[in-house]
Amino acid sequence: MKMGINSVGMVLVFAALVAFSIPVKYKGNIEAYELTLPAGFPQPIFPEDNALTQARVDLGRMLFYDPVMSLDSSVSCASCHNQSLGFADNKMISPGVNGELAARNAPTLTNVAYNPTLLFDGFLPTLEMQILVPIQEHAEFNFNIVEIGKRLKKNPDYIKRSWEAYGRQPDSYVITRAISSFERILISGDSRYDQFVNGDKNSLNRSEKRGMNLFFNDLACTSCHGGFNFTDFSTKNNGLYTIYADSGRMRATHLLEDKAVFKVPTLRNIGLTAPYMHDGSIATLEEVIDHYMSGGKNHPSKSELIKPFDLTRRQKGDLIAFLRSLTDESFISNPAFANPFNKE
Ligand code: HEC
Ligand code: HEC
Repeated sequence: MKMGINSVGMVLVFAALVAFSIPVKYKGNIEAYELTLPAGFPQPIFPEDNALTQARVDLGRMLFYDPVMSLDSSVSCASCHNQSLGFADNKMISPGVNGELAARNAPTLTNVAYNPTLLFDGFLPTLEMQILVPIQEHAEFNFNIVEIGKRLKKNPDYIKRSWEAYGRQPDSYVITRAISSFERILISGDSRYDQFVNGDKNSLNRSEKRGMNLFFNDLACTSCHGGFNFTDFSTKNNGLYTIYADSGRMRATHLLEDKAVFKVPTLRNIGLTAPYMHDGSIATLEEVIDHYMSGGKNHPSKSELIKPFDLTRRQKGDLIAFLRSLTDESFISNPAFANPFNKE
């Protein structure tokens, strides 16, 4: 998304306003949402004022899929974060209202509850704040959260659900928190790789097992893409260019040391989320591996871990097969995450 420094600043100011609007004493439906976590996944941290309840998740799911959120009611969050594609999309850059193109590739929302910071900048701290970005971006919703609230207040179902979930009218407070609640349940940890780790030794074939061994033991991948979510949640430069069109984290921090560094993305569901990198510039996993084998381009911010290495054709195939085994079929077919407006 084409978001200048000013608009990051604006989001923070606006987020502060939304955050501090006075909560009405909550009298709604407080049935907790039972988040079932895969083995080895830590408990995500929920903001104090946004504990997970079923009513909040249900409302957020509707808003996530409802194009009423965009200026001309043509685009929803799901337009760029599509369940069947691991809550990413398959475009280099995704069009928003009027077909306008943003500046970055839409990332997956897989396990986004765990991300300590959002966006490729690795800077915005909460999902609640992040939601303001697509809403006001010209190339996304090109809209305004206060106006969305006005639209929702004309809809009796949203009014009812909003009172149930947060004890107040559907306004900015509710919109940001409800959508975040839905995003926090998008947990994926049932890929064939996970099944293997949890004891089903037949869930990976021999090629995938060899690839797994390369990934964990022979290559530097896990120095950045390690841990239960295949990311250390840091920001790094992986040597895509000598000159970057996108200033990366520096866009938010103004620090030279952050120039062209981007968040290390999760590799879960990576087989579904092509094209790759912040700008969608790499079309396939084969080419991603070619990039890493080449050692990348020189850039002052480039991590020392990005160095040339050799793989045979078979090894390269094995590594890619392993990455594809991180696709979680039950995640992309879970009816609880699907569009609630599509009643079969
Ligand atoms: C036009 C396409 C588009 C639409 C519509 C859209 N997004 Fe995104 N989304 C993106 C892009 C592109 C990024 C990466 C932007 C960046 O890093 O600067 C992104 C990033 C995100 C992130 C950060 C993920 C992470 O791990 O850092 C979240 C969360 C998110 N979007 C949620 C939403 C929600 C919620 C909505 C609806 C309110 C929405 N998006 C609508 C394209 C879109
Ligand atoms: C120094 C840290 C680092 C190491 C080591 C590293 N990566 Fe990455 N990786 C990144 C960063 C940062 C990005 C995102 C760059 C961008 O968006 O421009 C990335 C992006 C990717 C992507 C694209 C993800 C997406 O959603 O677009 C894949 C696939 C990937 N890496 C696989 C690997 C593999 C396989 C290895 C080992 C051969 C590896 N990486 C080693 C930091 C690293």
